Amino acid sequence: NDYDLLVVGSANADLVIGVERRPAPGETVLGSDLAVHPGGKGANQAVAAARLGARTALLARVGDDAHGRLLLESQRAAGVDTGGVLVGGAPTGVALITVDPSGDNSIVVSPGANARLTPEDVRAAGDLLAGAGVVSAQLEIPLETVAEVVRARAAGARFVLNPSPPAPLPPDVLAACDPLVVNEHEARFVLGDAAGHGPEDWARALLALGPRSVVVTLGAEGALVAEGGTGASAVRVPSPRVDAVDTTGAGDAFTAALAWRLSLGEDLATAAAFAVRVGAAAVTREGAQASFPTAEEVSAL
Ligand code: RIB
Ligand code: NA
Repeated sequence: NDYDLLVVGSANADLVIGVERRPAPGETVLGSDLAVHPGGKGANQAVAAARLGARTALLARVGDDAHGRLLLESQRAAGVDTGGVLVGGAPTGVALITVDPSGDNSIVVSPGANARLTPEDVRAAGDLLAGAGVVSAQLEIPLETVAEVVRARAAGARFVLNPSPPAPLPPDVLAACDPLVVNEHEARFVLGDAAGHGPEDWARALLALGPRSVVVTLGAEGALVAEGGTGASAVRVPSPRVDAVDTTGAGDAFTAALAWRLSLGEDLATAAAFAVRVGAAAVTREGAQASFPTAEEVSAL
């Protein structure tokens, strides 16, 4: 393979303000100085994987503007192949993010150029899709574009999906996921009333929808992994304890690390054990991409 990991997804400029608490409707609160960071779930995954040492490419769309240049620069600095990053068609995506004192965030995304990443763009990137051992996607780009990725990836290429922000998933996309990576919120969305009471229930119910495997991320509690097939059971993967400063992008770092280790042939539980350490390192620093660790930093944790 030319790449361990091809990420197909969004690139956003993250406009971040620290707040004591979030405003209620009609209310105004004062916050910190504005910080502008490179973000977006796709761009975050690509940077996270490359910083760990993965051979990584990104297929995405940014605007012909300062935010787009910020994102391209961040990808290149991390060592991501940006030949698949298309420029123009709409302003670069923007995420308005508030971070509270516990490190939790709330995010509003304006998709901008991300919404213009089309199935035709995927078909035109045939070489990238043919050369990747694992292909990873999220849902800040159109669902029909993700569906085309599922169809266009090389035979034998593994597909990893984080359905964020959650949307109803067509059966062929669900069936391709190996794994489907969800947090509690995304699990509850996908399952609706069938959600059940805890991560083991969610994993079992999600597997019944068709993915080959499922990973439920549990924040400070780590993750739960489950594979389909007979006799399979769910395995808990604990996280090291860290002091959370900013959780933005930690899930993206987790998913990227998982996808990379799967591309090296690790089993799901082993790959997840590495990935929870990457996610834990990412929450100890501010920002998304700026907070992602190198392999040495993960070992030191
Ligand atoms: O997952 C974190 C990311 O979500 C942020 O970087 C922001 O851009 C939003 O897409
Ligand atoms: Na962070």
